[in-house]
Amino acid sequence: MKYIIANFKMNQTPQETKEYLIRLLPKVEEGKHKLVLCLPATSMGVASFMLNGGEVSIGGQNLCDEEEGKCTGEISGKMLKNAGCEFVIVGHSERRVKFKETARSINKKIKIALKNRLKVILCVGENLAERNTLKMLETLKVQIEEALKGLYENELENIIIAYEPVWAIGSGKVPTNKEIETSVKAIRKVITDDFSAKAGEAITVVYGGSIDAKNAPTINRAKGLNGMLIGGSCLDAGTFATILREV
Ligand code: 13P
Repeated sequence: MKYIIANFKMNQTPQETKEYLIRLLPKVEEGKHKLVLCLPATSMGVASFMLNGGEVSIGGQNLCDEEEGKCTGEISGKMLKNAGCEFVIVGHSERRVKFKETARSINKKIKIALKNRLKVILCVGENLAERNTLKMLETLKVQIEEALKGLYENELENIIIAYEPVWAIGSGKVPTNKEIETSVKAIRKVITDDFSAKAGEAITVVYGGSIDAKNAPTINRAKGLNGMLIGGSCLDAGTFATILREV
């Protein structure tokens, strides 16, 4: 079963999430996808109530790199877990760039997430300059190795790697399936080299960046891919339901 992960970013009030779920849930086919909704923290209460431990999972979009205490405005792994989250996104490029998130902080966040039994959706991807200078595969390797430093192989079953080229996010530009396949292969090779061939094969890899109802079926056919991470196109329940139907 493939993952369809929705990243709502900083969109939707709790009331809007409620109305959205009323529209979306009747269109979700049971057993077709592993559907994860990464919601704003303020919408988790209403979503958790409405989803009621069913097939659709909730995820956070970030967590603090400290466990608790003097971190005004932050949200902890424990809080996310208790709010009904099963997943959390870590290292999204918007956080790396806008909020100056460092590799060390991303590594700490992953460890805290796992400690709180949250599955991690680790975002990696090259920016345009790295792509233009053919450094994309090196970028992926560095980002993955820094993020997963100190993890044991058996913890990888709780890690999803989301390949999100920065230049493709919200731009309407998508790589070809061949390009996606090259990156997915490179990601699996990093895991193979650092852990084992079995781990490289088993790691879950999804693609994100400008997925819409039109290109989703094509991207879904990229070899080696276990699913998708969708931003803008998840915000309208009708559009998102079309994607769910088409893939
Ligand atoms: P878009 O689908 O809007 O390009 O966003 C992708 C993304 O950043 C998901 O995390």
